[in-house]
Amino acid sequence: MNADFLIIGSGIAGLSLAIRAARHGRVICLSKGSLLDSNTSWAQGGIASVLDEELRDPGDSVELHIADTLDAGAGLCNEPVVRTIISEGASTIEELVHYGVDFDREDGHFSLGKEGGHSKRRILHARDTTGRKIAEALVHTARNTENLVLLENHFVIDLITTGKLGMVTDDRVLGAYVLNSESGEVVIIRADRVILATGGCGKVYLYTTNPDSATGDGVAMAWRAGAMIANMEFIQFHPTCFYNPAASGAEARSFLVSEALRGEGAVLINQKGEDFIKKHDPRGSLAPRDIVARAIDHEIKRTGAPCVFLDVRHKPAGFMKERFPFIYNTLMRFGLDCEKQPIPVVPAAHYQCGGVVTDINGKTSLRGLYAVGEVACTGLHGANRLASNSLLEGNVTARRCLVEMLAHFHPNRESQEFTEIPAWEHGDTAAPDELVVIYHNWDEIRRLMWDYVSIVRTDNRLRRAATRLRNLKKEVREFYWGHRVNADILELRNLVAVASLIVDCAAKRKESRGLHYTTDHPRTKESLASDTRIRKF
Ligand code: FAD
Ligand code: SIN
Repeated sequence: MNADFLIIGSGIAGLSLAIRAARHGRVICLSKGSLLDSNTSWAQGGIASVLDEELRDPGDSVELHIADTLDAGAGLCNEPVVRTIISEGASTIEELVHYGVDFDREDGHFSLGKEGGHSKRRILHARDTTGRKIAEALVHTARNTENLVLLENHFVIDLITTGKLGMVTDDRVLGAYVLNSESGEVVIIRADRVILATGGCGKVYLYTTNPDSATGDGVAMAWRAGAMIANMEFIQFHPTCFYNPAASGAEARSFLVSEALRGEGAVLINQKGEDFIKKHDPRGSLAPRDIVARAIDHEIKRTGAPCVFLDVRHKPAGFMKERFPFIYNTLMRFGLDCEKQPIPVVPAAHYQCGGVVTDINGKTSLRGLYAVGEVACTGLHGANRLASNSLLEGNVTARRCLVEMLAHFHPNRESQEFTEIPAWEHGDTAAPDELVVIYHNWDEIRRLMWDYVSIVRTDNRLRRAATRLRNLKKEVREFYWGHRVNADILELRNLVAVASLIVDCAAKRKESRGLHYTTDHPRTKESLASDTRIRKF
């Protein structure tokens, strides 16, 4: 197959780029599962944006949103990038409304929510399923867009580059090897412009708010292809994931209770009913996420309790059902009436602030390769993302990426046509009993990352994690080369690569900053206020 633009991922970043790019050439947009299976579909709180003067919270301004983003980012945001992305918020909302997203309104005006780290109300939302509404609108628009081929259940194994083929030329992307998960066939898709929109890597941790698809494939592929990666130590832990020890199944384990509840007055309390976050930050439950997650971790360790609680019992009867129906009904299904009982919560891995290094237009260090959305590290989030800035970034950078590709990238048709790309070679068929090894390794990685590389780190724990990951990597490599590939093996290979990148970046940062906290280097050092950049060769 050939495309002018090969877009890997069908979340907000991938689809909004695909819809626009189709006006300029043939687009193939792939998803390893269904088109709706993405972090985007799971987003709850909303999308942060300062609207026109008469529509915003009194006293709010783009400058204030920029200041809040820089403050959350703990000295590592790239200010020009922050300025540009935040300033394009209002046009993003306009575009999403145009695609059919029905944001909540009150008296004809957009209803604005609040989340941690925001000094004003500026989160547009569609009740508590904002991401689902955005994803559905984009999928609907994409399905009705000419020149756009949407392929579900197509898993990108690896990027094909001139470097990997051993060609003595400027290293650049030629396309990708793609597994059709239904037929088991591996095809080559050729494209001069390949865009990673593969989302994050929450599944590298035992406890996460992310869906199963979030296995860091984009970062792992870009790393193997030699692109620059940065800041993988900054994994954001969301403070309020539902704690449900009796639960079985991913849905119950990963269920997020949106920060927007705290924006509407919900308070974090310990088992004695104390508002303990105030001891850590005067903003209490609405402090930025890194602070709140660390405070909860500290409280859990101090008291020996398995969780803390989010309390909404003081809100008027019917409030939760009306404003947060999805959360209310899901908790009810799990047997908890949050109007009568406090909600047990724990922090869980939520968002990857680092990723494939790009400029503001999605351009990576490898010619022809672009990255947009959570997979990219643009400099917007620095050491800690401000809530609800992610959907915004995905849409803005997708728009800018297309302009960049059209203006500055000139496809090399000739060399694309004459470069021979070897067909995929399958390994032997996997013996069924060896699949157990995959699940065991998968579990081991996620558990060791949780135990050694989560909210509070030490040099010693990072060293141990690195040693165990080295062994696991070897085992996974043998497995990968010796067996016929399937989605499980591929995800395991990516997980172990991404886990190692997180550990390597964390080991390099000899200070505590934003989401990276280590008891061996507990202070922030001004001299270390720079990105952790790593590259394979
Ligand atoms: P995703 O939406 O994750 O899409 C990734 C796509 O890549 C998927 O289609 C996947 O199938 C595909 N893919 C991955 N690997 C491969 C491969 N190897 N081959 C083929 N396809 C592949 N952010 C906010 O701003 N506001 C919120 O309210 C909010 N709430 C959130 C709530 C939850 C529970 C979660 C998990 C996240 C939330 N976030 C929120 C974060 C936000 O949802 C994500 O950062 C954002 O949606 C990422 O969009 P994306 O397009 O980059 O990637
Ligand atoms: C939430 O609704 O709490 C998630 C918001 C985000 O991750 O930006």
